[in-house]
Amino acid sequence: MKKQVLLAGLLLAFGIGAVQAADVVAGKAKANACAACHGMDGNSPAPMFPKLAGQHASYIEKQLKDFKSQTRIDPTMNAMVGALSDEDIADISAYFASQKTTIEVADVEKITLGEKLYRGGNPDSGLAACQSCHGPTGTGNEPAGFPSLSGQHVTYLEKALNDFKSEIRTNDVSEMMRNTAGKMTLKEIKAVSSYISGLH
Ligand code: HEC
Ligand code: HEC
Repeated sequence: MKKQVLLAGLLLAFGIGAVQAADVVAGKAKANACAACHGMDGNSPAPMFPKLAGQHASYIEKQLKDFKSQTRIDPTMNAMVGALSDEDIADISAYFASQKTTIEVADVEKITLGEKLYRGGNPDSGLAACQSCHGPTGTGNEPAGFPSLSGQHVTYLEKALNDFKSEIRTNDVSEMMRNTAGKMTLKEIKAVSSYISGLH
């Protein structure tokens, strides 16, 4: 009797473990629904759609759950995630995280200012250096929840920063990005976005 209970317990533990582990292969099949905009390998062909390739799985998961709960508003994405289960979200996120991001080419004229802001912020306005959270090569810090920015499209980066600045996007924990983008001028947003698109 005792033995049977133990066995059942072990099987249960095993079963739950198997369900929770994200499945990259299943994720690839489920990501078909995303390919038209984000690209099959997560490198979106059009610059208004963010690249997902190489992004941290936990960041992608957070965004999809935020779109689902409407904590982050985008009519297209709010509609896209409605039918996704937690398991679908975990699988798709693991799949895109396993892909390699492509790198863009920064505009030469914007590199000097962009690099200065990324590395050192702007002491005059109290703007923090981006690299203190997003890392020296823009790959972020997954455990801390700082996304990878490396190689992202300029158009999307500018939109994201403007959305934080105008508080259209408010799903950043502790207002970290609203506080950051709120201190930036439009010129600074353009320069740093261009710099980041070529950063790796
Ligand atoms: C019709 C085009 C379209 C389709 C299809 C689509 N997306 Fe998106 N996605 C967008 C747009 C546009 C944004 C940017 C939203 C914004 O500006 O805030 C976005 C943003 C995202 C983000 C946030 C990225 C970031 O860096 O913060 C994730 C994650 C995402 N989509 C995942 C998916 C997944 C997973 C699917 C498939 C289930 C999907 N998308 C299907 C258009 C699309
Ligand atoms: C204190 C830490 C911190 C600093 C400093 C910081 N960021 Fe962020 N950033 C974050 C966090 C956290 C997020 C994710 C918010 C979320 O969960 O949606 C983020 C998100 C972003 C995004 C959106 C990414 C996406 O895929 O949608 C962009 C763009 C960005 N940061 C650019 C910058 C730039 C440019 C700077 C420097 C001027 C900077 N960040 C400084 C913490 C930081």
